[in-house]
Amino acid sequence: MSQTEAIEKAKEHFAKLLEAQLERVDQMKSKDAWVDYNRLVPIVIGVVGGDGIGPYITKEAVRVLKYVLAREMAAGKVQLRDIPGLTIEERAAANKALPEDALEALKECHVILKGPLTTPKKGDPWPNLESANVSMRRELDLFANVRPVKVPEQGIDWIFYRENTEGEYVLGSKGFNVTDDLAVDFKVITTPGAERIVRLAFEYARKNGIKRVSAVTKANVIKTTDGKFLEVARRVAKDFPDIQFDDWFVDIMAAKLVDEKRRKDFKVIVLPNLYGDILTDEAAEFQGGVGTAGSANIGKRYAMFEAIHGSAPRMVQEGRAIYADPASMMRACVMLLRHIGFVDQASKMEMALDICGLFEKKVVITGRAGGATGAQFADYVMETLKDPGLEGRWRSFQR
Ligand code: IPM
Ligand code: MG
Repeated sequence: MSQTEAIEKAKEHFAKLLEAQLERVDQMKSKDAWVDYNRLVPIVIGVVGGDGIGPYITKEAVRVLKYVLAREMAAGKVQLRDIPGLTIEERAAANKALPEDALEALKECHVILKGPLTTPKKGDPWPNLESANVSMRRELDLFANVRPVKVPEQGIDWIFYRENTEGEYVLGSKGFNVTDDLAVDFKVITTPGAERIVRLAFEYARKNGIKRVSAVTKANVIKTTDGKFLEVARRVAKDFPDIQFDDWFVDIMAAKLVDEKRRKDFKVIVLPNLYGDILTDEAAEFQGGVGTAGSANIGKRYAMFEAIHGSAPRMVQEGRAIYADPASMMRACVMLLRHIGFVDQASKMEMALDICGLFEKKVVITGRAGGATGAQFADYVMETLKDPGLEGRWRSFQR
């Protein structure tokens, strides 16, 4: 192919992508209302076990969730539903990141609890499909990836609002090899896409009496897209004059999160997709590793709750899956409960998790034989939940 032909082909490809993105912008502008969970009976929670250690940790989290929701389930207010068809084998067989039946089943639920799903990459035995996580976030328009990280003894109490539907991700599988030597990927930031995530971050701050929101970009180098994100953030910040707004470049933010003197000052951090992906793994590490962090993917109509880590296939191969830490999935359950309005149940479960995983630690998971199993940890959490003195016990650990 001549160079002119190669460029023509790339232009055609680019034109199609732009059409789809402009359509997405239009959809975002047609304002849907937020779903009201109070009006849904029953609230249907879809459960996706996932790959690798996913089914193991999901099972333990669901055990605790059922315990916490026993009364609501018996009263028909909540229903749990398994969603099949999303394991990597099933996705590979269907040659689809999100097989249609599974997507339809997901759409019949109101919220989803999801274990980690294997994301194929070049060189894996699977077709190089798009990540199911990424497609689910896009298909269900789960635009806000909310990731809290807390280390009370170090004064760390962060909540990340990661944009979840655009940035480098939205066309991550639609890059283009213009010639054998030239590969191009695309980064997309839209005005409504940036605005809705920044607004949600500020609204969270206002609702929770938090006086600071920080935006993270690399607008000094990635001038157009990150430039837009920053410009939108500055504009939205003006609607919240009672909240301090500042912005950081992602490299120095990665450094500041390690700075023991400065990091306590960060509260709400709002950022585009890829930077959010990277900084939230870093942040979770301070809390005890990615195994301890939960993640909420929030849209107006649907919401999905998951662990922030991957499926750890090596743990399964080495026969260690039963020792995998289900705490992240349990944290995801706490966020799910709070999101659908079961605030008391969420608080109790959170206190029990803090006691078992952070403070008292009578049962310790190491990820290996010798450490506790996920099932033992779940038992410990349920024992703790049974304690009528739960709140006092939790308070005794607060300074
Ligand atoms: C996460 C994960 C995903 C992401 C992967 C599995 C596609 O790392 O949820 O942070 O990059 O968003
Ligand atoms: Mg990640």
